[in-house]
Amino acid sequence: MTVRMSARITARITARITARITARVTVPTLALLLAGGVGCRDGFAMRATAARPGGQQTTRRATAESDTAILGRALFLDSTLSASGRMSCATCHSPSHAYGPPNALAVQRGGASLTIPGLRAVPSLRYTLPRTPIWAYPRSTSLAERLTETDNGPTGGFGWDGRFNTLHDQAAFPLLAAAEMASSEAAVVHAVERGPSAEQFRRVFGPSIFGDLPRAFAAVRQAIERFELEDPSLRPYSSKYDRWLDGQATLTAQERRGLSLFNDATRGNCASCHLSQRGADGSHPLFTDFQFEAIGVPRNPEIPANRDPRFHDLGLCGPLRADQPSKSYCGMFKTPTLRNVASRQVFFHNGRFHTLREVLRFYVERDLRPDEWYPHGGRDQYDDLPPALRGNVDRKTLPLARPAAGTPVWTDAEIDDVIAFLRTLDDADQVAGR
Ligand code: HEC
Ligand code: HEC
Repeated sequence: MTVRMSARITARITARITARITARVTVPTLALLLAGGVGCRDGFAMRATAARPGGQQTTRRATAESDTAILGRALFLDSTLSASGRMSCATCHSPSHAYGPPNALAVQRGGASLTIPGLRAVPSLRYTLPRTPIWAYPRSTSLAERLTETDNGPTGGFGWDGRFNTLHDQAAFPLLAAAEMASSEAAVVHAVERGPSAEQFRRVFGPSIFGDLPRAFAAVRQAIERFELEDPSLRPYSSKYDRWLDGQATLTAQERRGLSLFNDATRGNCASCHLSQRGADGSHPLFTDFQFEAIGVPRNPEIPANRDPRFHDLGLCGPLRADQPSKSYCGMFKTPTLRNVASRQVFFHNGRFHTLREVLRFYVERDLRPDEWYPHGGRDQYDDLPPALRGNVDRKTLPLARPAAGTPVWTDAEIDDVIAFLRTLDDADQVAGR
């Protein structure tokens, strides 16, 4: 049985992120940091990733949001950019739902008449975007490394399958995808030109911007990216857990019990993937290591595409990405953040579960009581993957590994404790809306 060692993972990720940062942090930013002018809940990574060629360098304290980001917010909320005229980014990534889905639907419907169902559940856009590492599959370089490094899995990138390395590339997908906003490059640019943001758009990108279609479409994506990287509403750090880390709140006895079960490497072991400790740079944790795993989530009949038994969403192996030759990745999806998870109504990439209790029971019972979770009395275990690929499902990492004792690692009361803890990850606006 392998227990993933979170300390080592944290160290490795921090090292990787720090390497990228060192390359990118500019002298003025460093000066600001040294002068103590910047709070460190985001650590260095936010400013580092936020420094894109062509974009403005910003820090939270030093400057307010850039004009590009303010424009980007307007575009994020603008439903005239869609073929239906009724769907914006915010329709699925609802600002009042921690930029996650506003409803319990496993997949949302888009297209010209909002009837075409998508394939995957909508993730929250809070917190992770500036700190998502670029896609990497760190191959071991020596035999010694292969023997000692057991966790070298694929990491990073945007989407459940990590297929986009930048937010401006990612933004083209929802604008153009048939099951989402279903527009075209030209239609998006014309909508901006006719819409309320036209003047601001010219001010930011130049008076002749609308005359150059490819450049104007790139500018739309760049503005959205700046919004995603800069807007404070995407990272309020207002949860009880954040305040507790800063010594400004006390966890109840139940929340503390839940936190230790979550962290306990011999039982819940959740923190081995959903990191719960501060980063080495003092940044507050995001509850993801950005790595990919095949958890074996049951097939979801609520997704219309699943009516075809030949259809399989294999994550890293497609259908939405097609560049991964290794079949051993099939079924893997990126570990999501658990911040604001208690305010969601759909869980996992396929939205199979609708309550946290079901998710936690699934984690601790999957291989003990397969008949509860999979069809044909549990014989069709890991039924969302074709039989030949079911061996990819993680059966070694706790709590997914079958416990020797034959009883789940958590009782129902302990599940209640963990849920109480997970609720401390809700931001203040989510708690208020509960
Ligand atoms: C119809 C619903 C819908 C709309 C509209 C939509 N999205 Fe998404 N978004 C999704 C889904 C579903 C995913 C997960 C996609 C996947 O993994 O393939 C996603 C993923 C993302 C991600 C990756 C998040 C991560 O952590 O990996 C970003 C960023 C994003 N969307 C931004 C946007 C922007 C910007 C817009 C508007 C231009 C937008 N979305 C419009 C449904 C939507
Ligand atoms: C081996 C790494 C790993 C471990 C250990 C792990 N998770 Fe996860 N978790 C993931 C991955 C990967 C996903 C997404 C899987 C998918 O959608 O197919 C996920 C998804 C989730 C989700 C759904 C979130 C959402 O937005 O849909 C919750 C809740 C969750 N995990 C809680 C936990 C808890 C609680 C534990 C401990 C009992 C735990 N996880 C242990 C990797 C892990």
